[in-house]
Amino acid sequence: MFGANRLQLKSPDELEVMRRAGLVVARTLAAVEDAVRPGITTGELNDLAEDAILSSGAIPSFLGYSEPPYPASICTSVNDEVVHGIPGDRVLAEGDIVSVDCGAIVDGWHGDAAVTIAVGETSPEASELMRVTREALWAGLAAVRFGGRVGDIGAAVEAHVRSQGAYGVVEDYTGHGIGTEMHMPPEVPNLGGTRGPRMRHGTTLAVEPMVTTGDQATTVRPDEWTVATRDGGWAAHHEHTFALTERGVWVLTALDGGAAELERLGVPYGGPD
Ligand code: MF3
Ligand code: CO
Repeated sequence: MFGANRLQLKSPDELEVMRRAGLVVARTLAAVEDAVRPGITTGELNDLAEDAILSSGAIPSFLGYSEPPYPASICTSVNDEVVHGIPGDRVLAEGDIVSVDCGAIVDGWHGDAAVTIAVGETSPEASELMRVTREALWAGLAAVRFGGRVGDIGAAVEAHVRSQGAYGVVEDYTGHGIGTEMHMPPEVPNLGGTRGPRMRHGTTLAVEPMVTTGDQATTVRPDEWTVATRDGGWAAHHEHTFALTERGVWVLTALDGGAAELERLGVPYGGPD
């Protein structure tokens, strides 16, 4: 299954199962997005996400992951937190932004996605940060083509962010291959300057730019999971899992498979009609 270029290639049947996992993630994140409001705790968001995943017959991939075992089913990273924030008693306040990351397993196949959500009305600066990060993710997805390099994705992500202002692009964490595990080779950097393996039909990757209002440097909090900016700047994180098919790009964790956004960007949509 792993070619010489280290990418696990999936058959059309395997992609159908990954799409089911991706849809569980997409629907769970939509439910979380609906529930976010001032006064709700990140723990309550975790509970509703866990219910959504389990009631779909899927398994939350984050729960018990790695060492020390990750203790929840989603990550909730607030304001200056970049990724891997642990849900708990924190009450979300008007103007906060919360990055919610979710992973699910269906019949052994993984989906992984994240979105940054405004709590009530947030500042223009925070709204811009979220917009730039979301656009950078789609710029990365739009750079995917058969025979192209994984490094093309990071180059497109970085170029978009740089075109929008003085933002930081986090270097310490990257996107990744995904399939029978959540994290598989290769890394998918969010910066240009790497080549990486060539993408083929059946390549599946998670693209996940993390963008900051200040410097890109990060630190891990004493809980051993929460990643925050060193300088206290705010961060946004948007992620999708995609497949490259013979038809084009299929965004497995988007409700519509990415059809609308890819059309807007002039990129062939790779999923079923
Ligand atoms: N889903 C994250 C990523 O995008 C990783 C989550 S780590 C976990 O790669 F511990 F929360 F599972
Ligand atoms: Co990921």
